[in-house]
Amino acid sequence: VRSHYADVVDQFAAFAGDGGYSLENKTLLDVGCGDGLIDYGLLGLPLKHVTGLDVVDASVKALSGLPERIRNAGLTPPSDLSRFDHVSYDGTHMPFDGGSFDIVFSWSAFEHVTEVEKVLAEIKRVMSDDGFAFIQVFPWFASRHGSHLTDHISSPFFHLLESHAEIRAQLEAAAEEKPDSKDFMLGHLWTEFTHLNGISADDFYECAKRVGLTVRRVRLISMDEDISAAPASYSLSQLTVAGTLMLLVKN
Ligand SMILES: C[S@@+](CC[C@H](N)C(=O)[O-])C[C@H]1O[C@@H](n2cnc3c(N)ncnc32)[C@H](O)[C@@H]1O
Repeated sequence: VRSHYADVVDQFAAFAGDGGYSLENKTLLDVGCGDGLIDYGLLGLPLKHVTGLDVVDASVKALSGLPERIRNAGLTPPSDLSRFDHVSYDGTHMPFDGGSFDIVFSWSAFEHVTEVEKVLAEIKRVMSDDGFAFIQVFPWFASRHGSHLTDHISSPFFHLLESHAEIRAQLEAAAEEKPDSKDFMLGHLWTEFTHLNGISADDFYECAKRVGLTVRRVRLISMDEDISAAPASYSLSQLTVAGTLMLLVKN
């Protein structure tokens, strides 16, 4: 909770601020907002309004449980939710007029997006001409933790080396050891893994350029890795650029 409600928000504010962008009185769209926890944290910034957008409709129940989750983590929930709303959509056509938002934000969502280029084109469309997009992706697929399953399967780069059937069998074996997490592992985590788009930071950059977005600032997230087990067909940057933070503007 602390990481999403507080740390992500601090990283965003610092990265945008260092890039020379103000957040004061700006409208923000969060693409792939998930359970809304980050959005509640963003309300602590001097933004005018925050809209959470996702293909999954965050239930009123999930949203109404957020203040208690935040309090249980020893933090203070937002007191005024009138600056927040949640919208669901089909994953490609955003239900907003062109230029509706000063800032488009996205955290740990783009590796799950099926139609990356279409969503980037929509981001460009709904962003104001002098606005910016802040997009964080972690982990990129070919990097060591790209499967999102490495808490449960530890052999290096198994997701690039093994078939889905082999990986499923290992996940099932790991789930037997963790009965409380079994349904989550074989349901949510497996579905998430099989729906990852598999793109790299370079692929994302190419898509962004094609839709007319320019990268104004980028930070790579990378770790010391032993890549000796990785297949030779992958490039060094695919294997070692584990994540990116980017600020993008319209051309
Ligand atoms: C790993 S979750 C991250 C959620 C949230 N940003 C966070 O960090 O807690 C990825 C989210 O992306 C959403 N997603 C997948 N495809 C999407 C799309 N085309 N447009 C918007 N959201 C999408 C999923 O439904 C999911 O909520």
